[in-house]
Amino acid sequence: MARKKIGLIGAGNIGGELANLLVQKQLGDVVLFDIPAKENFAKGKALDLEQASTLLGADAKVTGSGNWEDLSGADVLIITAGIPRKPGQSRDDLVEVNLPIIRNVADNAKKHCPNAFVIVISNPLDAMVYEYKRRVGAPREKVVGMAGVLDSARLALFLAREAGASVKDVRATVLGGHGDDMVPVVSACTVNGVAITELVKKEALDKIFDRTRKGGGEIVTLMGTSAYYAPAASAVLMAEAYLLDQKRLLPCAAYLDGEYGYKDLYMGVPVVIGAGGVEKIVQLSLTEEEKGMLKKSADSVQKVVDLVKSKS
Ligand code: NAI
Repeated sequence: MARKKIGLIGAGNIGGELANLLVQKQLGDVVLFDIPAKENFAKGKALDLEQASTLLGADAKVTGSGNWEDLSGADVLIITAGIPRKPGQSRDDLVEVNLPIIRNVADNAKKHCPNAFVIVISNPLDAMVYEYKRRVGAPREKVVGMAGVLDSARLALFLAREAGASVKDVRATVLGGHGDDMVPVVSACTVNGVAITELVKKEALDKIFDRTRKGGGEIVTLMGTSAYYAPAASAVLMAEAYLLDQKRLLPCAAYLDGEYGYKDLYMGVPVVIGAGGVEKIVQLSLTEEEKGMLKKSADSVQKVVDLVKSKS
């Protein structure tokens, strides 16, 4: 059987780390794509990674490209095309620059790889993945946004450190939009099945939730640009679940059609990812407080989506 083809749209910080992890895991051949002005940069990065693959003993081709024809028939597309935040910017500030980019990517993807399972990463995430699906007209099973896996990983790390537990044992779930009012679900946070509230005091938990909500901004302030190692690892987990039909239950931005009381909106919810793409949206029973927080988060996402729609 031929190796799967994975297209990475955007060969920047996240794109490069995505390629690195995909090669190490030998999940398929990788095409690292960027705009013509950065085609040689993409080719150089691809060559560097392919040379590393000989040391890692990983059989996977990595090709750099500025030509959409090279993406033809891709099984998976991971989209990071766009500009990341700079200190002081919110994710929503990126609409102006990233909206034309996601539209350009959607038009080309529709033409060259209409059957791919698509993971959007570009910010503002929930609005960009919404616009991608709307523009391509793809079924909701095939288009998903990456944010919840990352936000949950951040939360899991902070909980592990506070509880003195191994990161292997901590489970954490964050729902809602990928913004500062995302919703950490306390009942879904455990250390190997033990409720987190048994191990971490409320005051510390509240501080951790607050740090998680601002987790992206913390890194932007330190580095002057967005995180890329954990975002790439998060998207690779999702791609792997699809390619290996793992049926993993992961918090992802999924298209809601009535679930949780929302319609025609992308937002972070627990989904099952397998060979069918987004195979199922799992509805958790939330507390009234969590429902209220989710509503606030949904309203924020809707505002950005409305802005995007007004620019049609
Ligand atoms: P980067 O600037 O290092 O790379 C972005 C790449 O996209 C650049 O190489 C650029 O030339 C390319 N690009 C621009 N227009 C393109 C087009 N039309 N077609 C193909 N490529 C194009 O940025 P980085 O750090 O990789 O971040 C990418 C995006 O991911 C940003 O929007 C950032 O805000 C977002 N992000 C999302 C996260 C999430 O949880 N969803 C987490 C971290 C970042």
